Amino acid sequence: MAAAIGIGIDVEEPMGNMIIDIGGGTSEIAVIALGGIVCDKSIRVAGDEFTSDIEEYMRRQHNILIGERSAERIKIEVGAALPELDNPPSDIAVHGRDLMTGIPKEIYVSYSEIAHALDKSISKIEEAILNALELTPPELSADIYRTGIYLAGGGALLRGLDKRIQQKTKLPVHLAEDPLRAVARGTGIALKNIDKFPFLIR
Ligand SMILES: Nc1ncnc2c1ncn2[C@@H]1O[C@H](COP(=O)(O)OP(=O)(O)OP(=O)(O)O)[C@@H](O)[C@H]1O
Ligand SMILES: [Mg+2]
Repeated sequence: MAAAIGIGIDVEEPMGNMIIDIGGGTSEIAVIALGGIVCDKSIRVAGDEFTSDIEEYMRRQHNILIGERSAERIKIEVGAALPELDNPPSDIAVHGRDLMTGIPKEIYVSYSEIAHALDKSISKIEEAILNALELTPPELSADIYRTGIYLAGGGALLRGLDKRIQQKTKLPVHLAEDPLRAVARGTGIALKNIDKFPFLIR
C-alpha cells in the first residue's frame, strides 16, 4: 500500500491496480482497490537471493570464490533479467579466490551470464505474479489489463526485469520513478495526510 501511494496511484479509486515490491528479502505482490488490499502474495525471493545466486554461479561456473559485496556489485553493475538487452552494460572485472589454486584471480563477467544465473529466481517471482493474477477477481482483472503492473523496490532496478515481466504476463509494466524510495515516500505521504487515508489505520 505504501509503495502504491509512493508511486502516485490513487489507492481509493474503485479501479484495481497491481503493485509488485521487490525488496531485499521478499517480493510482495498486491492488488489494491478502494483503499484496500484485495489479494496479495509474498515470496522470499528478491534482491538478496539474486546476490546469492551470483555468488553460487561464480563458484560453480568459474571456480572462483567471491564475497557477498562483490556479488552485490556484479548485480548492480551487470545484473540483468534478460540475456539480450537494448542498452547492455559492458563486461566487468571481478576478483576472487581461485578454488583450485587458492590464488587471487580476475575474470570478466557479462550481463548475459548474470541473466542466466538469475533465471531460476526470476521465474519464481514470475510464477507468484501469475498466481496472484489468477486469484484476482475478474472485475479487477479487467482493470489490470488496462492499467498494467507497477514495479517498486530496489530489486525492480534489475535491468530488463520490467520487460521480462511484460513478456511473461503480456500486460503493460511500469517501473516506479524511484523504486528504492517509493515505500518510504508513500509512508511519509500517508503519515502527513493521515486524515486522507483513514482506511490505513485499522
Ligand atoms: N541498481 C540495482 N539493481 C539491482 N538490484 C538493486 C539495485 N539497487 C538496489 N538493489 C537491491 O535492492 C534490494 C533492496 O531493495 P529495498 O530497499 O526495496 O529492500 P528492503 O525494503 O530493504 O527489503 P524488504 O522489502 O525485503 O524488507 C537489495 O537486494 C539491493 O541489492
Ligand atoms: Mg521493502
